[in-house]
Amino acid sequence: MSTPYLEQLLTVLRFPSISTDPSHAGDVQANAEWLAAKLTEIGLGTKIYPTAGHPIVVARNAARPGRPTVLLYGHYDVQPVDPLEQWVSPPFEPRIEGGRIFARGSTDNKGQHMAHLCGITELLSRHGDLPVNLIFLLEGEEEIGSPNLEPFLKRYQSELACDIVAISDTGMVGPGLPTFTYGLRGIACVEVTVHGPVIDLHSGIFGGSVANPNTMLARLVASVHDNEGRILIDGLYDAVRPLQEWERTAWAQLPDGAASTLELTGVPKLFGEPGFTDYERRWARPTAEVNGIGGGYQGKGSKTVIPQSAFAKFSFRLVPDQDPQDILAKVQAHFAKHCPDTVRLDVYMGHSGKPYAMDPNSKFGLAARRALEKTFAKPTALIREGGSIPIVQAFRDVLNAETLLLGLALPDCQAHAPNENFPVENFEAGIVLNQHLLEALASA
Ligand code: BES
Ligand code: ZN
Repeated sequence: MSTPYLEQLLTVLRFPSISTDPSHAGDVQANAEWLAAKLTEIGLGTKIYPTAGHPIVVARNAARPGRPTVLLYGHYDVQPVDPLEQWVSPPFEPRIEGGRIFARGSTDNKGQHMAHLCGITELLSRHGDLPVNLIFLLEGEEEIGSPNLEPFLKRYQSELACDIVAISDTGMVGPGLPTFTYGLRGIACVEVTVHGPVIDLHSGIFGGSVANPNTMLARLVASVHDNEGRILIDGLYDAVRPLQEWERTAWAQLPDGAASTLELTGVPKLFGEPGFTDYERRWARPTAEVNGIGGGYQGKGSKTVIPQSAFAKFSFRLVPDQDPQDILAKVQAHFAKHCPDTVRLDVYMGHSGKPYAMDPNSKFGLAARRALEKTFAKPTALIREGGSIPIVQAFRDVLNAETLLLGLALPDCQAHAPNENFPVENFEAGIVLNQHLLEALASA
């Protein structure tokens, strides 16, 4: 491959652009400035927009009538790196081994948006212009729920008007298998705290006459599912759009999802809602996960204490046509109903994002699939994904544009986990794909 592109990717991977951690705000800013400088250098009109949080970078070519306007979106922020001790090499010192680039953000999303950037660079250097009117938008807050991007879309609605959005921030079903994602799950985050005594208590002196917040929290957590994995929150499934027959048939032809999940996760046995396959459970069914739980003594040895309080952090993944606000209200009602009266309950609503589904047979959907097939010379898999990119539904609501999801991550790229990695060949293929994509969209 042409080394300058790989060098550019390695350079952006060295920015520790962790959006959730205020101590890294300067690194996020520096990453944005590097991107803006590069986009200017390749000939695009570029601007960095400060926000209440991290900046948004927008680059564009000169618009010409008669061409579709394509908005490419990516995010240059990354997830935190802990547990750091599980990384084989430091997360912000990219290392290439076995054809893969190991670094935080390599797959999510720097490797993928740099494939957009380098594909554009190729087209510009070869033709002096692009086949479409381009708006390239890169944000630094995706991993914290994009709090400032939707207001930005509203404020600059007319400047950002476009015919179609394309994003590379999803996965491929396997190496070399072109994959078009036509749906994403939404998300709703909730933190629950139960408060017991006003101070930590001696569990010998008071144990027996005071409810233990840890135990009460465990009850609340357990109340969310039945023993087989169905969610027990009243009305939670009401708006779930049933899987269509063609999807079930298409997904049944894909590489065995259950076998791959078993192998990648190392769990002794799979667990999930009865009546659905592994892909169906992960891509088309709502879930409730406890992402964090705490209370009481966490140090070495034992300490005989009844803690003051205990907490659990939940995220709910949502599918079309569930609405995050409606689900949050139902979740809150559930916890209020199930919380024992021996403790006090606090429910804090975190960020949320709507689920998404589009028509993979739309004019632009078909064009994107042609570009994938031209790049990988294989039939394209049509899938949904379990992860969330909340801004995708906002592109539809605010800009009235659908989003094409042409992801390049592999199932074992370890996004959000230690030793995140991205295959060099996917980066190369992504650079080619982006050129085919803009050409296909131009003639759609
Ligand atoms: N790239 C992911 C989303 C994704 C992952 C889509 C896998 C499809 C398959 C994105 O960067 C991400 O991690 N999103 C967060 C959103 C949240 C923080 C609002 C997620 O899904 O947890
Ligand atoms: Zn992510």
